Amino acid sequence: MEEICRGFGNDRTRMMDIVLAVQERFGCVPREAMQVIARAVQSHPVEVESVVTFYSFFSTRPQGKVVIRLCNDIVDWLKGYQAVADAMAKELGITMGETTPDGAITLTHTPCIGMTDQAPAALINGVVVTHLTPERARQLVRDLRRHLDPQQLVTMVGDGNNAHPLVRSMVRNNIRVRGPVLFADFESGSALQRALAKAPEGVIGEIKGSRLRGRGGAGFPAGLKWELARNAPGRKRYVLCNADEGEPGTFKDRVLLTECPDLMFEGMTIAGYAIGSDTGIVYLRGEYRYLLRYLQSVIEERKRKGLLGRDILGKAGFDFDIRIQLGAGAYVCGEETALISSCEGLRGDPRNRPPFPPQQGFFGQPTIVNNVETYCCASRILIEGAPWFAAMGSARTSGTKVLSIAGDCRRPGVYEVPFGVTARELLEMTEAENPGAMLIGGPSRQMIGPDRFEGRICYDDLATGGAIMILNRARNQLEIAEHYLDFFIEESCGHCTPCRVGLILLKKAVHKVVSGAGEPADLDAMRELSDFIVQTSRCGLGQAAPNPVMGALQSFKDLYAGLVAERKPGLLPTFDLAEAVVDAELRVGRQSQYV
Ligand SMILES: Cc1cc2nc3c(=O)[nH]c(=O)nc-3n(C[C@H](O)[C@H](O)[C@H](O)COP(=O)(O)O)c2cc1C
Ligand code: SF4
Repeated sequence: MEEICRGFGNDRTRMMDIVLAVQERFGCVPREAMQVIARAVQSHPVEVESVVTFYSFFSTRPQGKVVIRLCNDIVDWLKGYQAVADAMAKELGITMGETTPDGAITLTHTPCIGMTDQAPAALINGVVVTHLTPERARQLVRDLRRHLDPQQLVTMVGDGNNAHPLVRSMVRNNIRVRGPVLFADFESGSALQRALAKAPEGVIGEIKGSRLRGRGGAGFPAGLKWELARNAPGRKRYVLCNADEGEPGTFKDRVLLTECPDLMFEGMTIAGYAIGSDTGIVYLRGEYRYLLRYLQSVIEERKRKGLLGRDILGKAGFDFDIRIQLGAGAYVCGEETALISSCEGLRGDPRNRPPFPPQQGFFGQPTIVNNVETYCCASRILIEGAPWFAAMGSARTSGTKVLSIAGDCRRPGVYEVPFGVTARELLEMTEAENPGAMLIGGPSRQMIGPDRFEGRICYDDLATGGAIMILNRARNQLEIAEHYLDFFIEESCGHCTPCRVGLILLKKAVHKVVSGAGEPADLDAMRELSDFIVQTSRCGLGQAAPNPVMGALQSFKDLYAGLVAERKPGLLPTFDLAEAVVDAELRVGRQSQYV
């Protein structure tokens, strides 16, 4: 244990890496280990514990030598999750969440692992297995029982760099449409050379001129963010890349990381030059650990070519290095301030804003956080020029967008399309089967029905960070909304009450309606509660969590209306505040004035 801490310079801020290494070596991080870590990095055991208990990939109790994490995203459900889970559990002789009596194999589930185009899928000690069926699941368990080596399950590797010796994964890229920004040829260093020929302000001017907006979902103008960070006072500046890709149904960054890492690292280096930074960090979600060694090799190669390190491409004084920070299974860490906390070795707690990261981010210094795709776009803009990029897309959203599309369609995968494409065009491209609804931007965005299929994918209409899920007419949108509420409840960091408690109340209300026990007033109560949660939550998770419910209420009014008949005798209202406080009133001996 001490040796692991020493390996990270006994540096408290590398807590994530230390705990990840301990978890990997010993299969868990027990209390004694926390004490040792705390001593070594001069922290307090409580601080170590706060990290260990925050991330779902860490465990304080021993787990099996092999941990099977079956992805339980909605698309996996649609594609047969339950039958696969049952087959595995039966073959192992345990239930979900248990470990076999010999301590060999643990079976558990996990939210979206970024493989919805090849669902049902699972992560087995970090090895991805895809396209599971009950029969394959049974065989996989038998094989694991023999060798306990998940890598041996990969008998056929996927396409592109999935077959690289440092990756060797069965994942397939499923690139269906290659556009001119992300998937065109790229020569390492060509964008950087053009950037270094300009002054840093000139690079920012080029990015601003392209009207590039962040590709992670919120669509903030990238050039403006870089300018703010450049002009903010600080000792040091940082370039962070958000490769957390936790939004259920999103997998486009997986493909970009696999096929275009050079383009991304180059974009980060250009950003470093533009804002005056010498340090970049890629926050890679723990689910994509299988790409880690390959990505590190690309960084090493860039160092050998003089594209990272000191005096880059002979530019005296321009030094820039990149390291990769692995996450450990926490969706909220995709939120930029939570990501910063995690990179600092803390729990992934979102922070109050302002100050915004370009003013005070990583260790309180000016920091830009951009999505993988945003950095890739920046490189291409430097090569082709701002006017070329700005000429593509819709009136107010320039360029192309890489979409990850899955669900009820024949051609799930990754599509690079110009902004402004309609939802209906996507349904045609993907050969959707009897589409009844689309989840645009994943559960934290919006569920649309056929009346909005003419809507356009862009930040001013149907906004998305990349996820699109297609649901056929037989699917129950309300059950799907309920499923995603469970996801948000599970992933809430718990800091603020509206998110921590409000989402549970909302889930109860939705469940009451979906199970047929609702009444018309419940729909109003759901709307009111959703509004309250959106308005009072501290970060984007809580602010977006009621969206699946609100979207379903808006787009599928008839479905809900049909479920809630007039109040049936004997049914209770969703929540009766007056009645809920009676017990408390009796105890304190006075009546509340407010209910
Ligand atoms: C709960 C939550 C999760 C998020 N997850 C991601 C993510 O996985 N990837 C991402 O790029 N942005 C994510 N975001 C958005 C980031 O906070 C941030 O806006 C983004 O990284 C900025 O980069 P961009 O401007 O290039 O899009 C998330 C936001 C929230 C509220
Ligand atoms: S809104 Fe939810 S996830 Fe965000 S800070 Fe509050 S409790 Fe945490």
